[in-house]
Amino acid sequence: MLTKHLAQVLDTLNMKALLIWAVLLNFYKLLQTSDCTSTHDQVLSIQVTTHQQADIVRNISSQYETVLWSPASPEYIGAHTEVHLFVPANNLGTVTDLLQTHHLTHQVLLDNTEELIEMQTRNESSDPRSSASYYERYHSLEDIYYWINKTAQEHPDMVKVILIGSSYEKRPLYVLKLSGRQERAEKRAIWIDCGIHAREWISPAFCLWFVQYSLNFYNLNNDITEMLNSMDIYVLPVMNPDGYKYTWTTNRMWRKNRSLSKESNCVGTDLNRNFDANWGTKGASNRPCDEIYCGQFPESEPEAEAVANFLRSHKDSVKLYLSIHSYGQMLLFPYSCSNEEVPNHAELFELVQDAAMKIRRYYRNNYKYGASAKTIYLAPGGSDDWAYNLGIHYSFTFELEDRGRYGFLLPPSLISKACNEALLALKSIALRVIQKTQPQP
Ligand code: ARG
Ligand code: ZN
Repeated sequence: MLTKHLAQVLDTLNMKALLIWAVLLNFYKLLQTSDCTSTHDQVLSIQVTTHQQADIVRNISSQYETVLWSPASPEYIGAHTEVHLFVPANNLGTVTDLLQTHHLTHQVLLDNTEELIEMQTRNESSDPRSSASYYERYHSLEDIYYWINKTAQEHPDMVKVILIGSSYEKRPLYVLKLSGRQERAEKRAIWIDCGIHAREWISPAFCLWFVQYSLNFYNLNNDITEMLNSMDIYVLPVMNPDGYKYTWTTNRMWRKNRSLSKESNCVGTDLNRNFDANWGTKGASNRPCDEIYCGQFPESEPEAEAVANFLRSHKDSVKLYLSIHSYGQMLLFPYSCSNEEVPNHAELFELVQDAAMKIRRYYRNNYKYGASAKTIYLAPGGSDDWAYNLGIHYSFTFELEDRGRYGFLLPPSLISKACNEALLALKSIALRVIQKTQPQP
């Protein structure tokens, strides 16, 4: 009797010990292999240090179902490149194994991409707890079209809507023309475009931010008042509406437009490789499946053609060209399409240096600056280079926040800082350009 009871007690104790042991073992395993067992899509930051490693990462990014976040294309991966790679959950094990085998170190930048995407697309206007304004959220293409209309109606004295063309899928390309209330003969102008690349959502958000700022602070803030009194400002909030729509409905990581190709089943041209500036040379691709596909010929894409036509017909008035991208935190100027220096390189350098200094001082944030080819990589066919060669000698591309912490999935709570910084840089450059291009009496 007693021995039987004792045996039972011992047995349960054993069972308990075994259970605890099993739990501990599993926990340990989980710790060891947390990357591989994650059920989430992840964004990895991979440190490439040798040419062989660059080859490996290039192969991984093209052979496995992954999306390169940075740099924009595998051909830009060299020795000493920090690569940001989006890896869907089902490929994580394979990819991280490959990285380990080739002694490539990596960190997990994001393990909650689904959650971040949900945060970016949530419509918080229906959430009474949210205090975020319209401009501190991301908006669907339909919302943006509605906003364009409403903004023009509410400010008939300062805003005009201009239809400059339509996209491949026949969506309208609307430009908002902002003007101060002072009439001036032969008014100069600024051009700002956003959303060339579909997944860079902070870019259209900036265009909306900029328009509301201009309208709300005209005659209240000296800088914006002076800008609008001396220049008309053309704002194209979404240059690539088809791609933008597609990032909301189907694939958040989409970059190009959505044009179909005759030679291939792959969709889309990189609009920032489709302009006529050393078109199709090194730094662009002639393969339709690539992220930096330059299209069939310069301005083959209706979106690029519409912008080019508009600028050609306004080239005497437009003094400042600005294209808004993300991410990377950089203030760039031509050339992207060659390593040559533009004739007014020193002048442009001073402008971006000054703007970056202001961002550092006011927002404690570092922006890189310089000629684009030397600061990032060769990228022919870009809109900024083309505008420069057209004669708009103050031509810039801004890469907004961040540097990769969230990348394209910048949470809505960070929109205001990203936009305010860029606004500061824009004002700083625009005011100097206004002085420099003063018409001679
Ligand atoms: N990251 C952007 C791209 O790959 C901009 C690169 C700079 N190129 C330029 N044309 N500004 O298209
Ligand atoms: Zn871009």
